[in-house]
Amino acid sequence: MADGKTSAISGFYKLARSERISKVAEFASLTDEQKKQLANDLPLGFEVADRMAENALGLHALPLCVATNFIVNNREVLVPMAIEEPSVVAAASNGAKLCRDTGGFFAVADAPIMVGQIQVVGLKEPAKAVRELNSKKTEIIKAAEPFAAGIAKYGGGIRGFAARTLPTERGEMVIAEFDVDVRDSMGANTINTILEGVAPKIEEITGGKARLRILSNLAVKRLARAKAVWKRDAIGADAVEGVLDGWAFADADIYRACTHNKGIMNGIDAVAVATGNDWRAVEAGAHAFAASGARYRSLTRFKKLPNGDLEGEIELPLAVGTVGGATRSLPSAQAALAILGAKSAQELACVMASVGLAQNFAALRALSGEGIQKGHMELHAKNLAIAAGASAGEADLVAAKMIGKKDISAKKAAGLLSSMKKEKT
Ligand code: MEV
Repeated sequence: MADGKTSAISGFYKLARSERISKVAEFASLTDEQKKQLANDLPLGFEVADRMAENALGLHALPLCVATNFIVNNREVLVPMAIEEPSVVAAASNGAKLCRDTGGFFAVADAPIMVGQIQVVGLKEPAKAVRELNSKKTEIIKAAEPFAAGIAKYGGGIRGFAARTLPTERGEMVIAEFDVDVRDSMGANTINTILEGVAPKIEEITGGKARLRILSNLAVKRLARAKAVWKRDAIGADAVEGVLDGWAFADADIYRACTHNKGIMNGIDAVAVATGNDWRAVEAGAHAFAASGARYRSLTRFKKLPNGDLEGEIELPLAVGTVGGATRSLPSAQAALAILGAKSAQELACVMASVGLAQNFAALRALSGEGIQKGHMELHAKNLAIAAGASAGEADLVAAKMIGKKDISAKKAAGLLSSMKKEKT
């Protein structure tokens, strides 16, 4: 890379915590405050937590990690991921490592357009109301604009309006939909403010009652796509076939597609959580998108290129922000965004889509080859050793012994650690 930075930090996992933080801080030019934030075992004060949600009792923590090796659109990226599940960060880093020689990931994200819906009920002639609304589009957008003033300051605003009828169990309704450019925010507050503000105008025009006024998490106008190529020579011809077989299984079978997409979301959600984004919105959007065709399908596609290399692609809605909401109020999210270095919500979405693709490639490669349990058990054994009080160095030895003896348990970890300590003295 032009600035000499590389996210391929070899042996990152072997470093002590302070060394990892130093490396990340150097890579991302973090401030002292951000470094302190990463080193803080209590990264959120209770007073802040108490203001964020109701009836707070305490704090719930997750490991904040970084995935290495990512190149996204020619930029070296360290990816912050908050997740409790072992292997996810290692798998993403591995998937990213294996496509570095073809330039990593190439990703694009649509403009941040979100859809907001107003449900209008109690109409004698819904089709007539739709005609009225659509003919008064300019007037309606003008009436909505004052409620979009906050986002207009940043270059966003209302980009479209259309109404349609909807047959339902409760009779035919009218759904009035606004397209809003929410810039670098996730957009929920912006949209909901506009909808609640303009609803009386919709009622006035239709003579109906505006009931629900809420954004749609199916952000189909805010899709992100990423692509990468894994060389046959780098992963082996059998891995190419294995990934293709695994993908074809998901593409044809909903039971498999569900788990396949869950693996993709392991990575995407972890970035969403680390950066203070609404991962439930991301999840809901991804699965509704996967189900929006004739059947629920994979969010990725894989194919073999004429030279035998493997090409993977992902496409999904990603309504994520780099400003506002918890991205601002959670200090750790600020540090995570600084590590990631994304200058816009679109850039963040590009990285998240790339992580999802890396995750899926790594899962399919492992599942179609040696399986995932070996790696899982190694990590599990290491975690048990650490829980028994082992240092990072001791944990590797204790874990290796437990695996060798095929007894991976808390009791065995404690026993092995105590004999190791005795031997030392
Ligand atoms: C486990 O959290 C995720 C996987 O099941 C994903 C997959 O099966 O593709 C390994």
